[in-house]
This record gives sequence, C-alpha cells and structure tokens, in this order.
Amino acid sequence: VFLATLLRESFGTEPFDRVPEADLVMDSEDAVSAFVRAGRPRGVLSGVYAFYVEQACRMIRPGDRVLDLGCGPASLLGSVAALNPDATFVGVDLSAPMIAAAIDSLRVRGLRNVELRIDDMTELASIASGSIDVVLSSMALHHLPDTARLRRCFAAVERVMSPEARLFMADFGRLKSLKSVEYFVRRAIPRDEPILAGDYRASLRAAFSRREIGTSVPGPLRRRISIYTTAISPMMVVLMAPFPGRTRDGGTEARRAVRSLPLGRRADYWQLRFFLRLGGMPLR
Ligand SMILES: C[S@@+](CC[C@H](N)C(=O)[O-])C[C@H]1O[C@@H](n2cnc3c(N)ncnc32)[C@H](O)[C@@H]1O
Repeated sequence: VFLATLLRESFGTEPFDRVPEADLVMDSEDAVSAFVRAGRPRGVLSGVYAFYVEQACRMIRPGDRVLDLGCGPASLLGSVAALNPDATFVGVDLSAPMIAAAIDSLRVRGLRNVELRIDDMTELASIASGSIDVVLSSMALHHLPDTARLRRCFAAVERVMSPEARLFMADFGRLKSLKSVEYFVRRAIPRDEPILAGDYRASLRAAFSRREIGTSVPGPLRRRISIYTTAISPMMVVLMAPFPGRTRDGGTEARRAVRSLPLGRRADYWQLRFFLRLGGMPLR
C-alpha cells in the first residue's frame, strides 16, 4: 500500500478536486474534544507540533507581538508561548467552543502572555495594521471555503505585519489521489478515534494545492516568503519569511522536548523534517 501511494503521488499529474470542509468553523463539541485530545503532550499530533514549535521559536525574539491564525484549542500556541515568556501572543479563531477550550488550556498551563480573540482570519478586524512581528498558523488555511477567502486571508496578514515581520505558516497540501488520503488517514489515526479520522479525512480533502496557496499570496508578501512542500507527496506546505539564520534558545529547547515523545510521535517529527528537507527546506 505504501508503494502504491508512492507511485500514485510521484506520477500523478493533477490533484483531485477540492472538497471544502463541511465544518468550516470547528464548533461541534465532539470535534473540539477530539482535537484537544490529539494536541495533548503525547497525543497524535505531538510529533508534528514539536516540529512546528521548533520552527516558530526560531522566528520569535524577546518583545515580539505574535499572532496565531485559527489557533483552535491553543495546544500549539500554548507550547510556543511557554518557551517565549518575553513575547506576547494573540490567538484568533472563529469558533467560540475552540476559544473556550483554549482559555481552559492556557489557565491550566498558567500562561499569562497570551490573549485570545474571536476573529475571522480573512478580516483580522481586531488587529491593528502593522502591529504584528511574527505571524503563525497551523492546520487552519484549509478551513477557508475557497481561494477568494484564501486571498483575503493573506491580504489581512500582509496588512497586520510590521515592516520587518516574520512568518511561519503550515498546512496540508492537496494530494493527487483520494486513495492516498485514505492511506494517510489509516496510517496516522488510531482506530479508537473515529471522529478524529473523519476530521483528518475532511482536512486532506479540503487542502489547497501548493499552487493555489502560492498564487493567493499578494505580490509584495510573495517576494518575501519561501514555500516548501514535503517531497513526493505535497502533504504539508510550509510558508516562511525569512528563513531564520540560527536556532534561538526556544528552538533548542523545543528540539530537546522531541526526546520525551512516544516512539511513533518521534518518528512523525523526523519524517516531517526529512520530507520537508528533501522538498528543499534548508533544515540542519
Ligand atoms: C484544525 S484547527 C487547527 C488549530 C490549531 N491551529 C492547531 O494547529 O492545533 C483549525 C481551526 O481554524 C478555525 N477557523 C476556521 N475558519 C476560520 C476563520 N475564518 N477565522 C478564524 N479561525 C477559523 C477553526 O475553528 C479551527 O479551530
């Protein structure tokens, strides 16, 4: 099955037709709690999060104001904020139950450097122009209904960024075949998590292609960012501006945390690194 997926993704030409998420904003209680479970320290997403935390930390400097688009239950945002106590963070999400879960999780972790807002990432009405030093986002873009909204989201991002602002965004990229979607769902999600499996399947079907993402970024911002995808199948797309020169303290600590992950999650971290590096991302 692995070999068949490899061949399909290597030799397929066009991605399948996109199926937008039925749950554009994640506000069903079941979906929220399945996602909270997945984001726990040793949960299904912990290996992928470890990689994102490390990259985000490389972008952040003391005193920065950092924005996380579609922050969900703030599992990831909380980990980045804990490693960067001298920076302040704003998380925006359109789902009230997600923001409620985020408030709980930040309280439990005792984090005081994070603010949460119900806001639309295609508008960012609550964020002043030019006020953000670092933009982060994980697994959120594919929730937008179409490329017109994707363009609006990037235009809003460009508006809120300060002139020297940095950016790290990552999301799924659309695969070539729906059969590959099923392969990745089976491989990643335990059998006793059917809601999470449904959510993951819907996410991979709703993913934008690398080209759709690239062409939705407005010109001036496009010239500043690099876009990388995992090699062979464009399962993950990363947008980065600029590529940071050297790992900062938070990044080193995030890397150390990988050692305490369960074996399977550590493998997720190393695989993501490997395939992004093979896809051209200059990781050491
Ligand atoms: C799959 S979750 C990812 C959460 C988090 N970034 C993470 O990686 O754990 C996607 C989130 O995007 C939110 N979302 C969807 N459309 C949005 C919009 N237009 N503006 C803000 N948030 C949105 C959903 O409510 C959901 O919480």
